Formats: sequence, C-alpha cells, structure tokens
Amino acid sequence: MRKKVIAGNWKMNMLPGDTINFIEQFAPLVKDTEHEVILCVPYTDIFYAWHTLEGTNIHLGAQNMHWEEKGAYTGEISAEMLKSMGVEYVIIGHSERREYYAETSAHCAAKAKRLFAADITPILCVGETEAEYDAGKTAEVVSTEIKESLEGLTSDEVSRLVIAYEPIWAIGTGKSADVETAEKCCKLVRETVKSLYDEATAEAVRIQYGGSVKPNNIKEYMACEDIDGALIGGASLKVDSFKELVDATK
Ligand code: PGA
Repeated sequence: MRKKVIAGNWKMNMLPGDTINFIEQFAPLVKDTEHEVILCVPYTDIFYAWHTLEGTNIHLGAQNMHWEEKGAYTGEISAEMLKSMGVEYVIIGHSERREYYAETSAHCAAKAKRLFAADITPILCVGETEAEYDAGKTAEVVSTEIKESLEGLTSDEVSRLVIAYEPIWAIGTGKSADVETAEKCCKLVRETVKSLYDEATAEAVRIQYGGSVKPNNIKEYMACEDIDGALIGGASLKVDSFKELVDATK
C-alpha cells in the first residue's frame, strides 16, 4: 500500500515570519494524519522552517537545486547544502522552471541523481501544455519527459521517487483536470515506469496529481487507483485550506 503524499509548493511566497506562524498553527492540526505531508518552502525560509518543524510529523522540501556537487555556480544551491538544513524532498522539473529557466528533462535526470546521492527524494514534475493537450499529444509528451528525466536512475532509486503529473494548463488557473483525465495520465506515468523498469518499481513509485487542487476537488482525485497524493500551489499558502486538503485525503 503506497502512503499518500501531500506536498505544498509555496513558490516565491512567504517571508520567514510567515513561515514560522504558518507552521506553528498548521503542525498541531495535522499531527495525527497518516499521510506524508511536505512543505516545499523558498530557500530563505528553509532555516526557519527546519527549526520550527522540529518534533512535528511534517517534512521539509525545497523547490530547486543545482545538479553539480559544488563549484563556481554563482547564486546556486547544492543538494548537500539542502541536506545540511533538514531538507528531505526537492521539486525538480516544475513547469515554471522548465518554461522560465530552461530546465530540461536532462537537467532533471542529473538533479535526481545528485539528490539521491545526498539522500533527498526528488519530486519530479511532468505535464503537457494546453496546445499539446488539444493536439492529443499528452501521452507522448509525458512519457518522453519521464523517460528522459529517469535516464541513469536505478530501479531502487525510481521506486523511492515521487512523480507529479501536472497539466500545465491546470497550474494556477483554477481549471483543474477532470478526474478521468488525471487518473488516465497518472496511470500512463505508472505504465511508462513499468516499461522502463519493472512491475515492482512501477507499483512502488508514488504519483501525485497537481494543478488547481482545492479542498472541494481533492477527494475525487485521491479516490483514484493511480493517484497517490497531490502537489498543491495556491491552496497550500493558507493554514485552513492546506489542513482541509490533508483531512480530505483518504
Ligand atoms: P496550483 O499549483 O495548485 O496553484 O495550481 C500547483 C503547482 O504548481 O504545483
């Protein structure tokens, strides 16, 4: 049985004081959940989140890192630096990074390798644009992204991975994918992993749906066989809505 994984992606929001307040209010509300709850905070909040999360059941995540171990990469942050501050998960390949910062699936593969070496779990995002969806290219785009992003990873690594299927047209738009589409695409992700590795790896990998997940629609996604959690942007920024999302997950 795969454990459900609910991750909040705060993107470029929240100052350290907001982070501390959020965690102090939120942590007691989800202390009994059986799900894995993750907060992916901005770099500047990591130190504060790490300390405030101490003794809670919430996991700390970051939103990006560099694929190299160390060196002359001005402005960058390494996996080891994140690990030294209690980070357990890092989002890679988010569509905003693919679109605005030219992150490719080859970068994702290098980042994933580096994260596993630092004992951090990658949350790999894949998903198609609206034009690709309209052109019926979803399966092709998603399976290619998976294949290229997993290049060089072992089955043991992939079985520990979290993959977030996020149709780009659903991110931050309020236009979430209907439940049949979300399940079909998450199943496709699992089948792609199976074709690249084996059944056991595909059964172990956890697959999230992301894109305008809200308290009023999360239940139906979580009832799907191949959806093991959600990656949540906007609705993770408020204590009440993020708590409702965790509670509604069965
Ligand atoms: P959203 O963002 O929930 O605001 O649509 C999801 C994401 O970017 O991961």
